[in-house]
Amino acid sequence: MYKYTTASFASSRRLGAARSALGRGALYSSEASAIKRVAVVGGGQMGAGIAQVSATYEHGVTLIDVNHEALDRGHAYMAKSLARVAKKKFPEEPAVAHDWVEAVLGRVRRTTSLPEGVANADLVVEAVVENIAVKQKLFADIAGAAPGHCLLASNTSSLPIGRIAEPLDAPTRGRTLGLHFFNPVPQMKLVEVVRAAETSEQAVGRAVAFVKSIGKAPAVCKDTPGFIVNRLLLPYMMEAIRLLERGVADARDIDTAMKLGAGYPMGPFELCDYVGLDTLKFITDGWFKEGDGLRGDKAFAASGKLDELVAAGHLGVKSGRGFYDYSKK
Ligand code: 3HC
Repeated sequence: MYKYTTASFASSRRLGAARSALGRGALYSSEASAIKRVAVVGGGQMGAGIAQVSATYEHGVTLIDVNHEALDRGHAYMAKSLARVAKKKFPEEPAVAHDWVEAVLGRVRRTTSLPEGVANADLVVEAVVENIAVKQKLFADIAGAAPGHCLLASNTSSLPIGRIAEPLDAPTRGRTLGLHFFNPVPQMKLVEVVRAAETSEQAVGRAVAFVKSIGKAPAVCKDTPGFIVNRLLLPYMMEAIRLLERGVADARDIDTAMKLGAGYPMGPFELCDYVGLDTLKFITDGWFKEGDGLRGDKAFAASGKLDELVAAGHLGVKSGRGFYDYSKK
């Protein structure tokens, strides 16, 4: 298990406070027998979030991306998010909070070399672009460089795990599965553990133990489009857009209705903007065209309003405008 360096914690009082805050993580960590070293491929919001929570719970983490700029962005995301968490953990002790953040960040090594980054990993989670060819090539590269016991996981939200694993040999397919995290990763408690047709029971068991070791709740499910959460969320989001298109109500009132009438933390348009309109379109177009059991399903048919916003570059919060305008916030 990772040990703090004495340099990162000058005073024993501060060390004690931070250790007790991490107590639950340390316990989980010892329970997760096999997985101690985690490699995360992709330093975007999801990858950085996965690296952050793994490091928070004392796993040794390597964050891998193609260039240093991407790694730096991932580091900045983690630093900002950890500062938010630390402020709540140590409200009266800013110095302890600062040291805790530094200690967690210190457990995340960064590299642009995939073979080096996965060489000692017990688990590799990829969170790169949603492109089947890119992921198949990446998984083959990971399989060639990672140890034989290493679990290979994809954070894909829309691509079949079985197809990503197709080019791999049978034993490697047995240790390939989905680990689907939710945005914002540090806050959302669920991880879907996706069992493809050839994923072994042992791999599922190890993945479930890992998810618990990082303080999250696993939901095991089959490898079908959208798994559980997106299979239910996306028809809801698309139907909200169609309500808007039919002029039933405006976006603000639909959001208010779902927040106050159904108790959702965000309305559907806030959620669309948060997830990203390009992501929403990419997933629904893909399912409409070739989703297993969903081909031609009218729930996922193109929406004029969504197409128009994406074509204009209005992708949601990340571009400053989507259904709402964020540029003035
Ligand atoms: N890092 C650390 N903590 C964070 C955080 C981050 N990036 N973002 C939010 N938080 C924490 C805050 O510190 C705060 O903690 P506290 O309650 O202990 O004080 C808590 O989350 C709430 O944050 P805020 O008070 O700033 O704002 P909200 O109350 O509006 O909550 C939200 C923000 C957590 C995003 C909430 O609106 C929410 O749960 N929305 C729904 C999100 C959702 O549905 N996500 C799934 C999307 S689908 C997906 O990811 C799948 C993909 O495949 C498409």
